[in-house]
Amino acid sequence: MPLPPSSLLLLLLLLGGSPARGTPEPPLPTVVIAVLARNAGYSLPHYLGALERLDYPRARLALWCATDHNVDNTTEILQEWLAAMGKEYAEVVWRPEGEPRLYPDEESPKQWTKERHQFLMELKQEALDFARAWGADYILFADTDNILTNNQTLKFLIGEGLPVVAPMLDSQTYYSNFWCGITPQGYYRRTSDYFPTKNRQRQGCFRVPMVHSTFLLALQGEGVDQLAFYPPHPNYTWPFDDIIVFAYSCQAAGVSVHICNQHRFGYMNVPVKSYQGLEDEKINFIHLILEALVDGPPMQPSAHVFLPPKRPNKMGFDEVFVISLARRPERRQRMLSSLWEMEVAGRVLEAVDGGALNSSTIKSLGVDLLPGYYDPYSGRTLTKGEVGCFLSHYSIWEEMVTRGLERVVVFEDDVRFEAGFRKRLERLMEEVAQEQLPWDLIYLGRKQVTWDEEPAVEGVRHLVVANYSYWTLAYALSLSGAGKLLAAQPLGKMLPVDEFLPIMYDQHPNEDYKGHFSPRDLRAFAVRPLLAFPTHYAGDAQWLSDTETSTIWDDDTQATGWSGSRKTLRDPRLDRVGSSGHSFHSTSHDEL
Ligand SMILES: *[C@@H]1O[C@H](CO)[C@@H](O)[C@H](O)[C@H]1NC(C)=O
Ligand SMILES: *[C@@H]1O[C@H](CO)[C@@H](O)[C@H](O)[C@H]1NC(C)=O
Ligand SMILES: *[C@@H]1O[C@H](CO)[C@@H](O)[C@H](O)[C@H]1NC(C)=O
Ligand SMILES: *[C@@H]1O[C@H](CO)[C@@H](O)[C@H](O)[C@H]1NC(C)=O
Ligand SMILES: *[C@@H]1O[C@H](CO)[C@@H](O)[C@H](O)[C@H]1NC(C)=O
Repeated sequence: MPLPPSSLLLLLLLLGGSPARGTPEPPLPTVVIAVLARNAGYSLPHYLGALERLDYPRARLALWCATDHNVDNTTEILQEWLAAMGKEYAEVVWRPEGEPRLYPDEESPKQWTKERHQFLMELKQEALDFARAWGADYILFADTDNILTNNQTLKFLIGEGLPVVAPMLDSQTYYSNFWCGITPQGYYRRTSDYFPTKNRQRQGCFRVPMVHSTFLLALQGEGVDQLAFYPPHPNYTWPFDDIIVFAYSCQAAGVSVHICNQHRFGYMNVPVKSYQGLEDEKINFIHLILEALVDGPPMQPSAHVFLPPKRPNKMGFDEVFVISLARRPERRQRMLSSLWEMEVAGRVLEAVDGGALNSSTIKSLGVDLLPGYYDPYSGRTLTKGEVGCFLSHYSIWEEMVTRGLERVVVFEDDVRFEAGFRKRLERLMEEVAQEQLPWDLIYLGRKQVTWDEEPAVEGVRHLVVANYSYWTLAYALSLSGAGKLLAAQPLGKMLPVDEFLPIMYDQHPNEDYKGHFSPRDLRAFAVRPLLAFPTHYAGDAQWLSDTETSTIWDDDTQATGWSGSRKTLRDPRLDRVGSSGHSFHSTSHDEL
């Protein structure tokens, strides 16, 4: 007897004939996300953008949002966002408190008083109580200036199957959201495990006594029902601080705490010490956005909240140039995005692509090698990339003179900006103008070659007279400076542009090279501490140099590599406290 068509289908299904067959995936665990926001207007758009992009079904997430004591738009931003996105979540608890704006004994909106700590512990406890009552599997605490740029973070943390686990967050400084030790008095202690973990020299999930800011807490499992933020454990005698209280609670309940650093999960904003107001916090946060543009994944604001419009300008300069190769569009885009974030109006200068020049074109441009020039480290002569680089800078100097531009900033396309770059540069230029300092060139980023202490410039904080330096990564140039550089007619006696500049201010150690140029009266200075660094160094995983890795200028067959050239190696003086990371440049992180 022939089977009816529907039975046939059923049979096929039972036999595995359909790809849809099989037991349905069990639903993902439910998670309450605790959002405790206060004066977070500068970071909330990016924070909420990251929440939206988490790769996790919103129907399995509940939001517990509280905000209080604000002097900024925090409440409005959260309201606006919840109105647009709230309905997609399984549940939303919204706990705004309009007044008061400050705690009784508080002087600034970011100060941490005892009342603030206590209130925060009570809020966290409320969020935890809600999550337990709602029957959630997990609760994720995530501070509103922690941006989880990695959309897999929540799935990853759940997948680890640990009771208390934090995704290690990167920051502008050596801070992160964990500590490897506690002192007998209950304070944070940095142990020898800290930097290898922070710098990802060891990778994995590691047991630590303390995590904070962003962490996932399992609500099922042994001991976790005893965890609490408030009131503190009866035996508690340590400082009254929500981080330490919770660490103690974990310890007392015998619940392990872990930090995981296998991936870049996101970023945490570390407040400046010399806090002057929320404006400083915003500048600091912009720096974090720039860091994420370099190291990735980048931050993106939510499309559902109001963003103050950006109004880029040239910071008082006549032009801000970005020398960029057309065949490196990611670098160009990153530089333009970075400048946009700082509200700097940059202009792309199409770099001369040395790699596309052959030796006959180079000669037809009137380029000839400085007699006897050899790279001091590799012993090789000029590369085509170095020729292209020189010609690119040269074309800016020409444009300055043609258009009569009084002062410009020149960036190459691989700049990592220091915190407060814009504000610090503007302040520097104000002081230079006030002192009526005659200047031709100011290095904003460079590699100092000599170890000598350079004389400070009187009346201008953070400026020194430049000795022999490498790199042309970022500098300010005046019209008189451009005139001097052109008058030296360097194309017919070319050497790398970062060797040419020190010759022109008479600090190059090679007397033979200097003999070809006269006068050497460029007035060159350098900011101290530096405001710009290269994004990557020779030997770094992502390192790529278009000047040092190309062919010899007059030989189209012989390739040159960077090995042997030490110019772009990291300067060990810049690496503090055992870091291998760039973030330690921030000698002046405390002062924007
Ligand atoms: C998660 O982020 C990655 C990298 O940014 C992206 O390619 C991917 O599409 C994102 N996944 C989801 C589900 O949004
Ligand atoms: C607060 O938001 C409103 C619009 O929602 C905006 O006009 C105003 O400039 C914002 N204020 C601040 C301090 O961001
Ligand atoms: C708290 O203190 C009491 C009395 O000293 C002690 O018996 C108890 O074991 C302590 N509990 C914890 C978790 O340390
Ligand atoms: C060099 O490049 C120019 C312009 O691209 C081209 O016209 C010329 O034929 C090239 N010469 C050699 C020797 O390849
Ligand atoms: C620059 O450094 C060199 C070499 O270390 C030193 O001899 C020279 O005096 C320095 N120049 C100035 C102007 O300080």
